[in-house]
Amino acid sequence: MPIGSQKKQPIQTVQWQSGKVCLIDQTALPETLKYVELADWREVAEAIRTMVVRGAPAIGCTAALGMALGARGIIADSRASFLKRIAGMADTFRASRPTAVNLFWAVDRMVNVAESVEGNPVDIKDALLTEALTMLGEDIESNRRMGQYGSQLMPDSGNVLTHCNAGALATVGFGTALGVIRSAVENGKRIHVYADETRPRLQGMKLTAWELSQDDIPVTIIADNMAASLMRQGKIDCVIVGADRIASNGDTANKIGTYGVAVLAKHHNIPFYVAAPMSTIDMKLASGLQIPIEQRETVEMTHIEGIRVSPEGVAVLNPAFDITPGELITAFITEEGVVHPPFKTKYSDVVEAELATAIV
Ligand code: MRU
Repeated sequence: MPIGSQKKQPIQTVQWQSGKVCLIDQTALPETLKYVELADWREVAEAIRTMVVRGAPAIGCTAALGMALGARGIIADSRASFLKRIAGMADTFRASRPTAVNLFWAVDRMVNVAESVEGNPVDIKDALLTEALTMLGEDIESNRRMGQYGSQLMPDSGNVLTHCNAGALATVGFGTALGVIRSAVENGKRIHVYADETRPRLQGMKLTAWELSQDDIPVTIIADNMAASLMRQGKIDCVIVGADRIASNGDTANKIGTYGVAVLAKHHNIPFYVAAPMSTIDMKLASGLQIPIEQRETVEMTHIEGIRVSPEGVAVLNPAFDITPGELITAFITEEGVVHPPFKTKYSDVVEAELATAIV
């Protein structure tokens, strides 16, 4: 379907339809907006692994729906054997991508429901689907709230740089970083977005530019190495990105290249915001050093659109994420409010204190 004919449709990245998991196929964008309908939970795990669906909140909610789907297909003669199958499914989803904690958070939540519901497998199956659908609703709701909090930090009129895609496509809908921009625009602010293309998978160029143009939000794509020069020329008023995992000291994993943008923002005295739901905060980790960084296939680097662009046989690195130290982050925008530094080791105390006196 040509993209022009899809204008103004709210983007629903993850859905439950007629007993199947329905996803926008993000590998086909921006050329084609198409949906995949998955009737087998293993296909759902594979869709996460191959990035048909991607973005931290989106993969968490997809895994939850995938587990609800898988549970419906289990034929077990006892509660114990049913729970054993659920545990196996959970392990498969946990292994699909390692960095975004939302995935683990969602899977754990589903396992907890399965284990805590009294009754037979039919009751557990119903409870799992209800839980997954609740998560989908919560995701959109928290993005909207994040948007309202974050909107107040956006310039009344100006240029905002973002990296990767933390939009409707990375969530169930509306987005985190792009949700803040959407809210600011809804609130009458005149925002123009610079979208880093985001090598190697080009989420910024393919996905961010696509979804912002669907909403008629002005967007200009830049190559990743252009941000410094634009900042020096005074053309960037603030940076906003999403997150895949935030350690308890504020260190933040996000798409590879985010750290570089944060260093540049610091040098040019430009605010650097991270918009993420509370489910992205991993209180178990003392610092970003403990966040597992996904290493992806080198073909993502060596080939563009299936065509080799590197010499044969040369070594290539392809880490999918990097860690931005908490001290480079001006503030976190969450669905509970805006959290400013210092992000201490005991992040929970800071979060509680900050939220009690949230500036918005
Ligand atoms: O590898 P991806 O495309 O899943 O990486 C996505 C990002 O890094 C996003 O910025 C992050 O998940 C936040 S999404 C709201």
